[in-house]
Amino acid sequence: MKALILSGGKGTRLRPLTHTGAKQLVPVANKPILWYGIESIVAAGVIDIGIIISPETGEEIKAKTGNGDCFGAKITYILQDAPLGLAHAVKVARPFLEDSPFIMYLGDNLIQDDLSSFLEAFKTQNLDALILLRTVSNPTAFGVAKVDEKGRVLQLVEKPKNPPSNLALVGLYFFSSAIHSAIASIQPSARGELEITDAIQALIERQKPVEALQLIGWWLDTGKKDDLLEANRIILDTCLQIAVDGEVDSQSQIIGRVCIGANSKIINSTIRGPVIIGENCHIENCFIGPYTSVADRVTLCDADIEHSVILQDAKVSGIHQRIVDSAIGQRARLEVAPQRPKALRFLIGDDSHIELV
Ligand code: TTP
Repeated sequence: MKALILSGGKGTRLRPLTHTGAKQLVPVANKPILWYGIESIVAAGVIDIGIIISPETGEEIKAKTGNGDCFGAKITYILQDAPLGLAHAVKVARPFLEDSPFIMYLGDNLIQDDLSSFLEAFKTQNLDALILLRTVSNPTAFGVAKVDEKGRVLQLVEKPKNPPSNLALVGLYFFSSAIHSAIASIQPSARGELEITDAIQALIERQKPVEALQLIGWWLDTGKKDDLLEANRIILDTCLQIAVDGEVDSQSQIIGRVCIGANSKIINSTIRGPVIIGENCHIENCFIGPYTSVADRVTLCDADIEHSVILQDAKVSGIHQRIVDSAIGQRARLEVAPQRPKALRFLIGDDSHIELV
């Protein structure tokens, strides 16, 4: 058994956070999204992992994730020249996959369920494809499945105008080598992509065994800012370990589940968990409220923040209105002069959003 993680693509929906970096490396509770997928594949006993990368962000993914040693896996990077669809990525990965069955995992998805029971079902039932489904309120935004009462998949449609059900395809699939000839038989869709839903539909039409199981736990597609904040909230709620390695002065208060990384200094501040703070941060005269993740080397002075994600090397100072529901990118600076400001001065990147509410 092998695994293929798709970490190419454009990441347009998370701009501007993804203008300069890969969306799969955006951290959730200070850990890149992609790493949660790798860990869950390894936990299911699959260690031969191929990762699809794009020319724009592939080097960054390789440099950060390495050869797999630290995950107990062997990682092979596979370059996809252009994001021509999920099925195209499988085609490009054929030399790595050979004729092995494989798990396909979308690198920007977070899935709570343990993969082992799905893998077991895929193997014992000798399936050509096992897909995972979750009920959603907006099926027109997803690949959607129609299934019979036994879980057999009858029909799959990508982003349908008239959805046949409210069961969306989760970014986790199990395939036998039969998927390759199905992919060879399909044409690009109207949006110019080779769709994996069309390839699975081709398997169904050939009467191949294709089944669906429903996910039990949460599933998050971290494509947009609100999804990212929700993923951050859930991971902080369920997985955060208390650990205080940094220095906390006597004027500060740490309440609830809080993790503070090495060499970080907390001065005259209140931190109310769940909160994670990375290494080498400086936090002074602040209130950091629940569901906030602060990455390494961030400086926060005279600020009040909650339910937010702040990336590496960002600086926020002198903002006394509470900052909420925010994602602040790497090296971003948000500063207000100590005297009451008379003007607002901005240098804001493309696709930025600023709301003064
Ligand atoms: P999508 O979210 O479908 O596409 P995208 O990354 O281009 O995102 P956006 O809509 O924000 O522009 O991709 C799901 C995952 O699969 C994601 O991790 C990127 C990856 N992917 C590839 O590796 N190759 C591809 O050709 C495509 C379309 C996606």
